[in-house]
Amino acid sequence: MKRPTQVPSPLAGEGRIPTCPLSRRTLLAAPLALTACAPRANSQPAPGPVAPLKSLAPFPIGTCVQAGFLDDPAYTALLTEHFSQITAEWEMKMEYIVLPDGTFRFDRPDAMAAFARARGIRLFGHALVWYAQTPDAFVRLDERRASFGQAYDRYITAVVGRYRGQAVGWDVVNEAVRDDGSALRDHLWSQRLGEIDHMVRAFHVAHAADPDVPLFINDYNLESNPAKLDQYQRLIERLLRAGAPLTAIGCQTHCNADLASGALTRTINALARFGLQVHVSEMDVSLVRAGGWFVSREEKAAAQARLYAEAVTAFAALPAAQQFAFTIWGVRDPESWLVRENRSDAPLLFDGEGQPKAAFRAVEAALRA
Ligand code: G3I
Repeated sequence: MKRPTQVPSPLAGEGRIPTCPLSRRTLLAAPLALTACAPRANSQPAPGPVAPLKSLAPFPIGTCVQAGFLDDPAYTALLTEHFSQITAEWEMKMEYIVLPDGTFRFDRPDAMAAFARARGIRLFGHALVWYAQTPDAFVRLDERRASFGQAYDRYITAVVGRYRGQAVGWDVVNEAVRDDGSALRDHLWSQRLGEIDHMVRAFHVAHAADPDVPLFINDYNLESNPAKLDQYQRLIERLLRAGAPLTAIGCQTHCNADLASGALTRTINALARFGLQVHVSEMDVSLVRAGGWFVSREEKAAAQARLYAEAVTAFAALPAAQQFAFTIWGVRDPESWLVRENRSDAPLLFDGEGQPKAAFRAVEAALRA
């Protein structure tokens, strides 16, 4: 994932402080969040009773899970205390479901679905069509569109149909826009079934398999790359004009601690202008991927907390009908994909011992505000 461009930060006293239409709620929440998460000597947030996030939020609070994590009682206790929705981090994607011979396996997806059902937790489906996953079973299919298209439709129908009545929505198309925002990505699905047609088709097939849930497009770096946000919005318009049953928009929100204040607010508001449901679908805030202008780890942690507070505040300011869910991409830091990439990162709300961090206190304060 490309690092967003670095911007001078007000923290370092360089560059102008970006002006942005921060809402009253943000202005109220920010000092609260900062008080709650002002860096302390050991950079631990002020102790105090921890309110379950899902009880503070008027909308679902989600996280991503892996089937293997569900055997850890400390993990599942923390998850069920704070979160009301789960997304399979990878085991409901083609990379897990589609076997080399083209058959499907659902053991782990079913285990996560059963876990969610048993605890009254929402299950969000992620992700049906993704440039990054093109299993050999599809690549091998002959060039004739008929067999390839039939296999494509069969996959979407099988997966969405299996969780009909439980999954509360699906990322139908994931990361369709090039990292530089210049165009749409070119990949097996677009080459075989058409640049736009493969997406319109996927939405129609998913809708036929479950007509009762919102169907999402989903992408990342929208808050840090204006060209990509623009291309994403144009794609949404094209799909809607083409009659795709696209009824919801995902904003992954994988961001870095050096992201300029206001960027998240502007992005969430821009996407909300379509009037569709919005999902902050994969938020985390990397300390390691952030630029080097921070003075200390504590300062990075405080900037991280502010970004979480800003995103929650902007999302909470949307019309209730557009608040699908706010999902954080993991529960405890060590489980994060970013920590698997770099052990010194700490992108989530809870540390390795399950203790709430300054970022948690900032989210809590923003929800209370
Ligand atoms: O757990 C297995 C392990 O048993 C096995 O030995 C190892 C090697 O095969 O694979 C491990 O599974 C890996 C899994 O992450 C858990 O670590 C998969 O190979 C690997 O593909 C998977 O990567 C996931 C990635 O999407 C691709 O599916 C990441 O966890 C997940 O965080 C990442 O999430 C994506 C979103 O779907 C889309 N937006 C970006 C986001 C971050 O890249």
